[in-house]
Amino acid sequence: MEILGMDAKQLLNLINAQLVGWTKFLGGRGFPLCAIQLLLTWDCNLRCKYCIVKEELDMFSKKQIDLRLVKNLMEQIQRNHFLKPWVHLTGGEPLLHKEFTNIARLLFENRINWTLATNGYFLKKYAEAVCDFGCFCVNVSIDDIGPAHDEIREKEGAFKRAIEGIKFLEGFKTMRNKRNPHIAINCTINEKNCTRLHEIYDYLESLPVHSISFQHLSFGPQRISGVDLNRNIAEKIDIVGLASSLEKLMKKKGRVRINLPKSVRKNDLENYYKPDKGRVSGSCVFPWLFLFVAPDGRCYVCDRKIGDLKKQNMQEVWNGDEMHQFRRSLLKGKALPCCFRCCWNIPSK
Ligand SMILES: C[S@@+](CC[C@H](N)C(=O)[O-])C[C@H]1O[C@@H](n2cnc3c(N)ncnc32)[C@H](O)[C@@H]1O
Ligand code: SF4
Ligand code: SF4
Repeated sequence: MEILGMDAKQLLNLINAQLVGWTKFLGGRGFPLCAIQLLLTWDCNLRCKYCIVKEELDMFSKKQIDLRLVKNLMEQIQRNHFLKPWVHLTGGEPLLHKEFTNIARLLFENRINWTLATNGYFLKKYAEAVCDFGCFCVNVSIDDIGPAHDEIREKEGAFKRAIEGIKFLEGFKTMRNKRNPHIAINCTINEKNCTRLHEIYDYLESLPVHSISFQHLSFGPQRISGVDLNRNIAEKIDIVGLASSLEKLMKKKGRVRINLPKSVRKNDLENYYKPDKGRVSGSCVFPWLFLFVAPDGRCYVCDRKIGDLKKQNMQEVWNGDEMHQFRRSLLKGKALPCCFRCCWNIPSK
């Protein structure tokens, strides 16, 4: 996703740099809520090897968010927010939600800027909804080419379906004469693809996509389940091969924009992939800006459950006691265990 000529990661880094200083003035209070990651369901048709929410998929099985809860959330946003927060639909696999089209319509009718993360398997089926109901960007997860993607995603035919979905959506946009949604690819780096990222780019570049982001896997203490993921990822990564492939990516001048992770040099990669997870200290503004809402209405920030939309309204969650205490504790001290290899990947000092 690109805004003002920056990819999402650059934009997040800029937001963090500009706003982090304000957190000590705000103390426990948050900025007006800027973005909600709305997890529509814990259901998923895949079981990808390194899925960050694999434990949750198994723990909470096929839990889906209640449409009434989404409606209620929209009403609260309309009532309380001059600048409406951006909503990112994810999961599990959000396109498995039985009411996906109705949720997309609700977002559209409430003039919410929204984006979607999907494994692409059902993209063709929902191309009309994402196109007609104003989705700004669809992030399709593709980790490798053909059978290698299917292997990491543990589903035969997953690659073919994702590619078909991308092409169909682009065709649909052309038919509707629309520029949005942008189609972006998110490729997570694993031990099988880490030395071939530049080749994967060469292959995917022929697709009608706007950008391809390469992302290190997060592993370590999990946000919601609290399970400590030790999937031996670190020791399997070929650091030298990965550094060389990332360097080749940096030199590419292809049609499709490349978004690279923050750690690209050998030294940084060695630090990131240290098997004994290190700690980073630093400051991060995101607990003052962003909120995760799980399919059962529980709200999370970083590794903390800080509220429940079935019992509280959004303002009570966002500026309630739990959230205040959590933010103050962050201001006092160090990074959390989950900061290291966090997807936001902000603390860097
Ligand atoms: C958890 S998935 C949910 C949406 C959808 N099911 C999908 O796969 O795109 C959201 C994104 O997180 C990525 N992801 C999964 N496991 C990850 C991990 N351990 N570290 C970093 N990203 C991960 C996926 O590849 C995907 O792009
Ligand atoms: S498709 Fe997405 S949610 Fe499902 S297992 Fe894979 S990464 Fe996890
Ligand atoms: S886990 Fe750490 S890096 Fe990630 S959003 Fe929370 S404070 Fe920021």
